[in-house]
Amino acid sequence: MNLRSKKSLMALGAGAAALTLGLSACSGDTSESNDGGGSSGPEVEVFTWWAAGSEKAGLDALVGVFNEQHPDLEFVNGAVAGGAGSAAKDLLQSRLQAGDAPDTFQAHAGAELQDYIDAAQIQDVSDLYSEFGLTDAFPADLIDRLTVDGAIYSVPSNIHRANVVWASPAVLEEAGLDPEAEYESIDDWIVALDAVQETGKTPLSVATTWTQVHLLETVLLSSLGAEDYNGLWDGSTDWESSEVTTALENFEIIMGYTNDDRDGLDWPDATQQIIDGQAAFNVMGDWAEAAFAEAGATSPEDYIYFPVPGTAGVFDFLADSFTLPVGAPNEDGAKAWLETVGSAEGQAAFNKAKGSIPARTDADTSDFSPYQQSAIEAWGSDVIVSSLAHGAATPVATLNQVSDATSKFTTGASDLATFQSELAAAVAG
Ligand code: GAL
Repeated sequence: MNLRSKKSLMALGAGAAALTLGLSACSGDTSESNDGGGSSGPEVEVFTWWAAGSEKAGLDALVGVFNEQHPDLEFVNGAVAGGAGSAAKDLLQSRLQAGDAPDTFQAHAGAELQDYIDAAQIQDVSDLYSEFGLTDAFPADLIDRLTVDGAIYSVPSNIHRANVVWASPAVLEEAGLDPEAEYESIDDWIVALDAVQETGKTPLSVATTWTQVHLLETVLLSSLGAEDYNGLWDGSTDWESSEVTTALENFEIIMGYTNDDRDGLDWPDATQQIIDGQAAFNVMGDWAEAAFAEAGATSPEDYIYFPVPGTAGVFDFLADSFTLPVGAPNEDGAKAWLETVGSAEGQAAFNKAKGSIPARTDADTSDFSPYQQSAIEAWGSDVIVSSLAHGAATPVATLNQVSDATSKFTTGASDLATFQSELAAAVAG
């Protein structure tokens, strides 16, 4: 069922409501009435897509701090499985439109947040910034991305980096490659991908559509450079230009080195192929760092990482951010959750387990991993650009169209010229 457009949702009516009821039951939300919002009670339903594995471990760490800070409240897990919110976002939208908001939900800082603001689905929480002392705790440019017309609509929990290659040193050595080699460009990288191909191992592991869009954004960034990549989102780079054609040709070549079973997998499966020594390289956001840690891979003999070739010095950014929905059944409980999310203690515990870095500038990161220390440094010195696949660069409707066009292309249902014009049309809106 495709629940993407608002119109189709309105038309669905009772169907969506029934689906909603089922979901509430699954998540253990026993709130009696969800229509008015603003009431208090012990249960706080937190809606995310951190349902399993290392992502759930990150959420659990945050819940641990919440339980300490708010022992009178009870966390209710409203997580819906599927990386990058691939299933959660549609279901969330159906709930919001059916008047069944969770108490708080995960969104991305940037254009995605604007969707919820435009639809009047989330509330201004700037008062909480004053109350919890958050105004100076976050970098000013991050606050800017969360602010619209002077109002702030969410509390960020973290900063993730999207343009990271994760690799298996053992598979590289088997292919005669130096694990310490650096690749300046996609062309350089292709030489290494060819060498791995010769061994019979998978050169580059990838998973279902959203991970292919994630790969696409990093290839666009590598091929175009930061400025022209940014121009894709503000209209100053022409999607029909020959530079974009070259970038898409690079994407096509790179996809040729990936595993055939990709469409049936989610990101942890593709990361696992690196851990298991079945694949050489994987491009994924640094939530993968948490998956390596969970698998006991902690040293450079176990795994290595570097910016996607051609993107050194650029930090492809996204931030998870928690909201106060209009009609939240337990507003006071949601505010307590936002207090924990924004606290230095909450950010330290959550990010250490999640692979990301705190959005706060003053959280204690002394025991973070070497990868995370490198990300903290890069965040402070690199050029920052916005992630496409994770809501920073475009509204949800645009991303959905980009995803459909990408899936058609990578499954052979469209050619490169069609792909390029479909991407141009998606972003033009
Ligand atoms: C991103 C989210 C990350 C991580 C990832 C994979 O969209 O911001 O926190 O969960 O999806 O599911």
